[in-house]
Amino acid sequence: PTEIKRICCIGAGYVGGPTMAMIAHKCPQIDVTVVDINPQRIAQWNSDELPIYEPGLDEIVKEARGRNLSFSTNVDQGIDQAEMVFISVNTPTKTFGVGAGRAANLEYVEKCARQIARVSTGHKIVVEKSTLPVRTAEAVKRILSSGETKASFQVLSNPEFLAEGTAIDDLLAPDRVLIGGECANAIESLVNIYANWVPRERLLTTNLWSSELSKLTANAFLAQRVSSINAISALCEATEADVDEVARAIGTDSRIGPKFLKSSVGFGGSCFQKDILNLVYLCEYFGLPEVANYWEQVVAMNDYQKRRFVTRILRTMFNTVSDKKIGIWGFAFKKDTNDTRESAAIYVCRDLLLEKARLDIYDPKVPQDQIKRDLMWALTDQGAMSSEQAQAAIEENVRFADGCLPSATDAHAIAVLTEWDEFADVDFQAVHQVMKKPAFVFDGRNVLKDMDLRQLGFDYYGIGF
Ligand code: NAI
Repeated sequence: PTEIKRICCIGAGYVGGPTMAMIAHKCPQIDVTVVDINPQRIAQWNSDELPIYEPGLDEIVKEARGRNLSFSTNVDQGIDQAEMVFISVNTPTKTFGVGAGRAANLEYVEKCARQIARVSTGHKIVVEKSTLPVRTAEAVKRILSSGETKASFQVLSNPEFLAEGTAIDDLLAPDRVLIGGECANAIESLVNIYANWVPRERLLTTNLWSSELSKLTANAFLAQRVSSINAISALCEATEADVDEVARAIGTDSRIGPKFLKSSVGFGGSCFQKDILNLVYLCEYFGLPEVANYWEQVVAMNDYQKRRFVTRILRTMFNTVSDKKIGIWGFAFKKDTNDTRESAAIYVCRDLLLEKARLDIYDPKVPQDQIKRDLMWALTDQGAMSSEQAQAAIEENVRFADGCLPSATDAHAIAVLTEWDEFADVDFQAVHQVMKKPAFVFDGRNVLKDMDLRQLGFDYYGIGF
């Protein structure tokens, strides 16, 4: 196998940044360059304020940066100098044309492949790190070998299984690393890199297509567990069963297992919905409508769960939240990240704004500008509002607090939308004092369940009990 001395990663995002920082950290003999077309992002990676928040990331980046880890906007040079090129660009859901709303938009991946073909000389190993529809490597190979490229290529699939919020721990000790390919030598080159810190038995090798499909399948199964327990949460609320007790009861069955059985206001993040819809599209494309319908229900259940949460707020608050202040605690799609992509909070806040509620939002890591952009998008999506109306609604009815207590002050209700640890440390007696009465708390993450809020005088509602 080729010994890899220089790696280039195209895409300095939530995946490219942390994964490459880990390789640089664990393999001081390898030079790692992360390139991106977004100059602002690269500048942030080169500054003290990294563009993404992830526990433990700062230390690793600051240790390796300047030694064998660099961030640059010079994509051509990065590709040219590397023996191995990772493609880690975004693959969002298509918003236009054939497959809109389902298929993956492979524009960025294809542009990368064309650029690699154009600037490469000699032999290069191209690694798909982005999550891609099965058979994408076919297209990547054809693009790489078309035109008058002077280079030869091997394509590998190496999907990333890290979860935001625990990326560094996941990268340090992955359950497995998956490498799909056609050429034993190329596979071995990548295996040798991971073998610097991952035990050999956790390095799984497969054919290209199994590897590509496994990533979509893993996310579909994970999201399915959440939607399954969320479906049961609705039934719990109707029957005085408690979804956390049910989850514990079934999770102790070793065939089911305890993880990913936490009921909530709904899953979010940039991946689950996008990847399932991608899977759904693939099934339709390959003439398997029954399989497509089966998986699509996982997303449908998640949409229902978000709507259901708002409906419960409305019903409980005497069918109107108009001109009532609601303290929103948490906006990120989960704790320990500043990422808001597909966060349940976006949809809950949108629906509350459409009901003319006044929101006072607090999130420890998400910048206000990001929240405004997300709400702007959500309010104008599918013509719910014109951009002028959305702008006015946000200006009039969205405020930002710098803590839980200010967010609760004079509020009729609190809605907890992210499971940030610090929410459990709040002085709820003080919160109760500053709120309007009855003081409603809607806990979309069941994180305040053990705080005896009802005893303190709150009208407390969680998910699934
Ligand atoms: P991201 O949007 O944070 O980062 C992608 C970066 O690629 C952006 O900074 C963008 O400017 C850059 N880019 C796009 N086209 C480019 C080009 N032609 N040349 C140079 N740079 C370019 O996306 P994220 O979250 O890092 O995801 C990347 C891929 O990894 C996606 O396919 C995603 O499905 C997958 N993935 C994401 C996970 C997550 O937790 N976010 C986990 C596992 C996989």
